Amino acid sequence: MTALLGKRIVLGISGGIAAYKSAELTRLLIKAGAQVRVCMTPAACEFIQPLTFQALSSHPVHTTLLDTAAEAGMGHIELARWADMIVIAPATADLMARFAHGHADDLLTTLCLASAAPLYLAPAMNQQMWKHPATQANLQRLQSRGVAILGPDQGVQACGDVGMGRMLEPEAILAALQQPQLLSGIRILLTAGPTREAIDPVRFLTNRSSGKMGYAVAAAAQEFGASVTLISGPVALDTPLGVERIWVESAADMLEATRYAAGLNDIFIATAAVADYTPKQVATQKIKKNNDQLVLEMTRTTDILVTVVKENPKLFTVGFAAETQNLMEYARGKLERKGVHMIAANSVAEGKGFDRATNALEVVWQGGSQSLPEMDKKLLARALMAIISQRYQQWKGMQA
Ligand code: CTP
Repeated sequence: MTALLGKRIVLGISGGIAAYKSAELTRLLIKAGAQVRVCMTPAACEFIQPLTFQALSSHPVHTTLLDTAAEAGMGHIELARWADMIVIAPATADLMARFAHGHADDLLTTLCLASAAPLYLAPAMNQQMWKHPATQANLQRLQSRGVAILGPDQGVQACGDVGMGRMLEPEAILAALQQPQLLSGIRILLTAGPTREAIDPVRFLTNRSSGKMGYAVAAAAQEFGASVTLISGPVALDTPLGVERIWVESAADMLEATRYAAGLNDIFIATAAVADYTPKQVATQKIKKNNDQLVLEMTRTTDILVTVVKENPKLFTVGFAAETQNLMEYARGKLERKGVHMIAANSVAEGKGFDRATNALEVVWQGGSQSLPEMDKKLLARALMAIISQRYQQWKGMQA
């Protein structure tokens, strides 16, 4: 049985070259058990014939707002009420702009305004158009209204450009629509990346953390329906869509930002590789190489995770552990010592873990554990979020 079985889906198609992929999406949605009604903008009809969608969905395609014959069948308000969800794929920059500003100048935007059903947009456009501040502002506006954005993807585009803007493949759109919103209404705070501890105005100490795992966990949490705040050390990664990112530099900055935000959240996941020591004093001027040796006096940083656990007894907390040996033993030790609900431990022995695309995790909690084998960090993050949401719901049930 699939999550889409019996779901009534209005599939909106706007005018982009990716419209041809929507034929396959129609087929996949129907195969997954959904009832599909297709609505095309006039520009979409220039790219692909409505007849294709009529044949695939076994229903007439809706194309115009003021068509008396169509309105006599299923009128636009009726169609808007009929929908359990509206999926627009492809969603062009123009469609996003018009809907972001509440226009109702064609059937598709009118349907969006007239329906209370959850709305999913799969953007598709040239990479420069996607990056444009106007599109990004529209995106933010739509997300703040609760519109779910699926993609876009990276890669070679129909126009020959390379970058963000390709529509997600139909299979990926289907997978996203089937994803249960396990964490809808839950607020999740994460720390990610390394910290930088200043030595003097031009030098700092840091570590090899790329932030990839933490960012992937933040993206997965967002996909699961949570509202996500990511407190990040310096990394070269884009903010996952729909995630609020707060930049910090040092362990002390990260501590301050995290303590401030922790009380506003339901779950805290500490993935950051926080410096354990920081220079006792930061030189105000650049240190000159006057001596053969330089001795830096360091002092311990505050453990952010432990502090947050102590200050927020109602928060569900998850720590990470990077170990080179005795993974399970150290993970269990950390679970006890830090007083957290779960530890996700990974091996950083022999070049594993840091700054790589794949990872494996041993997830431990009081009375249980689960191994997640080596896989792409994005997939691993989703698997981890599935465990976290399950453990969180169970823990929450016990609190009630
Ligand atoms: N952590 C933190 N604040 C710190 C140090 C660590 O929040 N100042 C969090 C990390 O984000 C991670 C977990 O604690 O979730 C890692 O625990 P830690 O004991 O610091 O790990 P290691 O440095 O690997 O521990 P050890 O010294 O035992 O090797």
